[in-house]
Amino acid sequence: MNLVVVSNRVASAKPNEPMTGGLAAALLPVVEKSGAIWVGSSGRVRDGNLKEPFAEIEALGAGALAMLDLPAAHYGGYYEGFANSALWPALHSRADLIRASQEDYVSYREVNAFMARALLRFRKQDSAFWIQDYHFLALGAELRDLGVTQPIGFFLHTPWPTRSVISGVPHHRDLIEAMLAYDLIGFQTEEDCENFLSYAQAELKLAVHDGVVVSRHGRTRAAVFPIGIDPQKFARQAGKAMTHPDVSRLRRSLNGEKLAIGVDRLDYSKGLINRIKAFDRMWTQQPQLLRAVSLLQIATPSRGAIEAYGNLQGEVAKLVSDVNGIHGEVDWTPIRYLNKGYGQAVLAGLYRTAQVGVVTPLQDGMNLVAKEYVAAQNPADPGVLVLSKFAGAANELDTALLVNPHDIDAMAQTIATAISMPLTERRMRWEAMMTKLQGHTIQQWFGDFIDALQDSQRDKGRLDAVVVEPPAPWPLRSARTSGRYH
Ligand code: F6P
Repeated sequence: MNLVVVSNRVASAKPNEPMTGGLAAALLPVVEKSGAIWVGSSGRVRDGNLKEPFAEIEALGAGALAMLDLPAAHYGGYYEGFANSALWPALHSRADLIRASQEDYVSYREVNAFMARALLRFRKQDSAFWIQDYHFLALGAELRDLGVTQPIGFFLHTPWPTRSVISGVPHHRDLIEAMLAYDLIGFQTEEDCENFLSYAQAELKLAVHDGVVVSRHGRTRAAVFPIGIDPQKFARQAGKAMTHPDVSRLRRSLNGEKLAIGVDRLDYSKGLINRIKAFDRMWTQQPQLLRAVSLLQIATPSRGAIEAYGNLQGEVAKLVSDVNGIHGEVDWTPIRYLNKGYGQAVLAGLYRTAQVGVVTPLQDGMNLVAKEYVAAQNPADPGVLVLSKFAGAANELDTALLVNPHDIDAMAQTIATAISMPLTERRMRWEAMMTKLQGHTIQQWFGDFIDALQDSQRDKGRLDAVVVEPPAPWPLRSARTSGRYH
């Protein structure tokens, strides 16, 4: 099988370059080994004839990386517009932040159609396409319109919200109907999968049976594939990273004081404001923790041209400065706040240095930082993960200290508990999390999805196998009893 993987952002083939976002970093090692062609945006735009996409192709492990210049006339409407100002807020249950014009939707569809045309040059008879994330919800339908009959799968890295929230997206019916051209749609959690199926049944009035939606495109299977990491590799990286100059300097600067770490893209879904308020409250209520623990918050800027992101950047910076102004001393800074990205080889060492990992998004598809923090720990003296119950990772990492990121007081208390947790409890919690990570690695995620894609395409034409009845009286398939692939 010739696999073609597609995502908006692709990882650089150059080792140790900082990578923004979990998707690119997670996919790199598995795509490299699989021999797939990985196609995505070059980050550049190009004017002119959209019918002749320009791709820069380089070797990537056993396969190749193809980076396309996207059409200049549509890039803004696609990326800053529809993808990140309509879909992203809706997918993270922030319907109040949805902003999209008719032109944005047109541009989004144009870029999906452009990508479909570009993919034709990589198609072989035994190809399968695996499309990643919300930038390309309609790419499968565009490929089908061009006559592609090969298996096409889709994986959503973000959450999928309730019907009422997703219905706030302009053209939601048109778009989600187009998604049903995929043979297989993968979600991070059972709740996401269930929300999607419930929308198909209630809003599109389609028959849904045992995780399969029947539409004019045929059968589409929806299933759960929680994304993992390579914990062993990350643990090795963390061990090595302890001698990296950045990590050594950090350790020296701590003077025996404890460290909590947060690593996020600067995004309103990550809960940075509430997290910083929780630290402020902790230091106010428990002054013995002043000079005893500080926070290293790495917040990598992203999507800065979008108003909501520009506002957030200003808001977080002001809050950090206020908190440092109140609690700081001439020789002590409570929050070290950095607006840049780090390569994984350094991040692994920073995670291992910190006694507490704080991952407190308001909504998150999975959050691989949580998994990486756990994998990076020293087994003899592991740190404690404080994790939002609204991150997909909380389903697996249930021995972390789970918090409600809207409850600032409880978060402040939980962070303090994490800081003083005895070694025996830390080890018990960490070992249980490591066992989960080892049971669901990124390699298994990749293999499971590809196996399921092949299975579901085999079923695709067998419409007659499904009894098509009026959808309303059907009980919605419970994701718990449906096909679940790990
Ligand atoms: O699923 C979320 C995602 O696509 C991940 O790659 C990453 O978390 C983020 O979005 C990347 O965002 P951007 O490429 O817009 O910086």
